Amino acid sequence: MIPDKAPREDVLYAAGDLKKEAHVPSFEKYKELYIKSIDNPDEFWGDIAKDFYWKTKHTGQFLDYNFDVTKGEIFVKCMEGATTNICYNVLDRNVHEKKLGDKVAFYWEGNEPGDESTVTYRELLQQVCRLANVLKSQGVKKGDRVSIYMPMVVELVVAMLACVRIGAVHSIVFAGFSAESLCERILDSQCCLLITADGFYRGDKLINLKVIADEALHKCRDKGYLVQRCIMLRHLSKVEEAEVAPLGSQSPPAKRPCPDLQQDPQRDRVKKTRPVPQVPWNPEVDLCWHSLVCVASEECEPEWCDSEDPLFILYTSGSTGKPKGVLHTVSGYMLYVATTFKLVFDYQPSDVYWCTADIGWITGHSYITYGPLANGATSVLFEGLPTYPDVSRMWEIVDKYSVTKFYTAPTAIRLLMKYGSEPVTRCKRTSLKVLGTVGEPINPEAWQWYYTVVGEKRCPVVDTFWQTETGGHVLTPLPAATPMKPGSATFPFFGVVPAILNESGEELEGPSEGYLVFKQPWPGVMRTVYGNHQRFETTYFKKFPGYYVTGDGCRRDKDGYYWITGRIDDMLNVSGHLLSTAEVESALVEHEAVAEAAVVGRPHPVKGESLYCFVSLRDGVTYNRSLEAQLRKQVREKIGAIATPDYIQNAPGLPKTRSGKIMRRVLRKIANNERDLGDVSTLADPSVIEQLFENRSCSDV
Ligand code: WT7
Repeated sequence: MIPDKAPREDVLYAAGDLKKEAHVPSFEKYKELYIKSIDNPDEFWGDIAKDFYWKTKHTGQFLDYNFDVTKGEIFVKCMEGATTNICYNVLDRNVHEKKLGDKVAFYWEGNEPGDESTVTYRELLQQVCRLANVLKSQGVKKGDRVSIYMPMVVELVVAMLACVRIGAVHSIVFAGFSAESLCERILDSQCCLLITADGFYRGDKLINLKVIADEALHKCRDKGYLVQRCIMLRHLSKVEEAEVAPLGSQSPPAKRPCPDLQQDPQRDRVKKTRPVPQVPWNPEVDLCWHSLVCVASEECEPEWCDSEDPLFILYTSGSTGKPKGVLHTVSGYMLYVATTFKLVFDYQPSDVYWCTADIGWITGHSYITYGPLANGATSVLFEGLPTYPDVSRMWEIVDKYSVTKFYTAPTAIRLLMKYGSEPVTRCKRTSLKVLGTVGEPINPEAWQWYYTVVGEKRCPVVDTFWQTETGGHVLTPLPAATPMKPGSATFPFFGVVPAILNESGEELEGPSEGYLVFKQPWPGVMRTVYGNHQRFETTYFKKFPGYYVTGDGCRRDKDGYYWITGRIDDMLNVSGHLLSTAEVESALVEHEAVAEAAVVGRPHPVKGESLYCFVSLRDGVTYNRSLEAQLRKQVREKIGAIATPDYIQNAPGLPKTRSGKIMRRVLRKIANNERDLGDVSTLADPSVIEQLFENRSCSDV
């Protein structure tokens, strides 16, 4: 399945010096380890597990599972019988066993340049223990769900790990979600406590987070569900003003200095004086983070958890519209994210690693919190935006902290590409060694820009394919081992067995295109949809019994490389030909006038479906008929006449979620002139919708 030898043609190789120190230095080594991971998983993962702390060791085989709905319930069990605690492994083990107490865990970089703070492993452990004791004193027990709705601050990591330390299950809701979405998620997982913050700035915009959180709690109450407690961190306001009012006091909380906060290393990290939100305060449920934490003990014995105890819930959108609570469990997730982090970014102790994702998404869970901390890594935790105060911000941060490994999303790359190379080349970037991408297929043009302009051809690009459900990377290059093909996520990670199926569920061999599935579990795969195991089985296992179905289309080329072609629901059938929207988008984006493109299907009486393309142009380019003709020609030339766009529409803005994913479902409605858009609560900027309707390119409906 994986070729014996890496191809020599049409591929790019990592620079030689990376190979010298790399954990997996060659394709041959990758292949050897891959075979071991499949033939002898007990030994492969057993060796990795030796580096972690287990209160009790596991008994029996490493993985036990059923992936076939026709043979009974779907389940995956990893390291049954073992007990451990992830918080202990990522903090205590690093501080006490590995002597990394003084090592920086996070460089926090605020929205505003100059807002910064540093937290070491020892400090992080202390803060986590204090909050864990606070949670316990508020009655939170093992197995209880805690909702976290916070900006990108160190305390978000503290909150996650405090839950984990006491065996509580965190459910993080991205701080860009609405009150309605937060309420829906709290209700679904029946959270007993919410942790939030006063507010934060996104660029120039103040987000009154506590106001939104309160609205969500009201909605919960209206639906008959009471969240017992809400702990609020003061992020923007000065901590001297921290409320120290006891729970239940009727008068507004007194603002008096909280003495122990004078020693808080995070204190006063927000330097610039800006309007601070007025926070609504409900004395029956609200508690002040600072006043609780400053009197809590720094000693907190971790709760020892079984391997298959729940670790966290993270909601991801489902095709039905109702979000699914993806559930991950303790041991498998820990080993998997630690290993993928180490090998995919080729982590070395001197690295400064930076993942630009928000912790509210799986990328942040796995590759800001758990993976890096499990390896004792130093990371940048960035609160701000790539374009604020200007479009050099990312590269300035790279230089400021001498970032060596950098991980971002194709949408951010395409956004920055619009401004040309000068904002990048203005900064040095000489520290960079590995570049990563995640989240969607990266078009070869963006890949080349990232590789050439950002990395100056020195840094391999790891295009990591995975999902909230997979816990960690499943198809990915290893930077020193895998020859790269721009736009391909290349080969499976250790323990992962991909296959490509046709519509009838037959496995295709050799070069082929179809449904991407996995034949067996790896340690980090999700275990269930919280509270709805049946939905888990129907969504991922019913269509093709015996396989985990990703929902993505995939092509395998003659060299065995995997190319994600986009979600299967984004596959189009034009005159009997299967087309991937990503492929057409990539062709459009290759035109110099186009910054970004999104393609959807529009029903067509003869062809079945026709191609409706939305294009965002680069700054300074105007849209006209001649450009439209050029774009049609471009697609025809790149893919073939079958892919010729039927409609092209100028789209100065595209409907995106706050994580940057284009909402194609909305675009399909616009293409069809259907005003009933369904749930658009996750849209980052709802105003683009009207503009898109006005600009529609066909007047026939
Ligand atoms: C979907 C999962 C994984 C963290 C962020 C997104 C798409 C993700 C790639 C990639 C092509 C990709 C897939 C997948 N996707 N990474 N490298 N190449 N497509 O997590 O929200 O669960 O979305 O993102 O379509 O199914 P998610």
